[in-house]
Amino acid sequence: METKHIFLIGYMGCGKSYWGKRLADSLNFDFVDLDDLIENREVMSIPEIFKKYGESSFRKREQKVLLSIGELKNSTIISTGGGAPCFHDNMSVMSTMGRTLFLEAHPAILKQNILKSDDERPIVKAIPEEELEAYIANHLKERMPFYQQAQFKVNVKGLELSDLVDLFK
Ligand code: S3P
Repeated sequence: METKHIFLIGYMGCGKSYWGKRLADSLNFDFVDLDDLIENREVMSIPEIFKKYGESSFRKREQKVLLSIGELKNSTIISTGGGAPCFHDNMSVMSTMGRTLFLEAHPAILKQNILKSDDERPIVKAIPEEELEAYIANHLKERMPFYQQAQFKVNVKGLELSDLVDLFK
């Protein structure tokens, strides 16, 4: 079967949902956010899942939901959580189910977007604002070997929707 889904991957605050929704509109794909699917399935928010069960349990739940993407009939853009590609064999799972696109962004941009968003992010919640950029830079370096496995990579600086659409023509 021809692969039909597109997985957007990248660090928190890189714009996966923002660009994913727009790309889905342009390509006439469905759009789903993996974190939303996890929250719906668990009937609990992501911060609550972290608090109640801890990160490793969250990662198991995350992979279960990722695998369920295989049941979707329509071509779909999936915005994944920032850590999703970095646990279990999720990069291979995504590559098997579709194409993968890494949205790269500088730590300063990621910090700015994280701070201005209303989403509560358990991974960075306890990091003081003045240490946040350095924390992100270091964490991003750790995650890069996973993100770099994506089939496509774009930097979000100056990114236009047409640049993304062109990748999948
Ligand atoms: C996480 C990123 C979050 C969410 C969870 C863990 C991470 O998603 O999955 O809080 O480990 O980077 P976003 O990247 O959409 O913020």
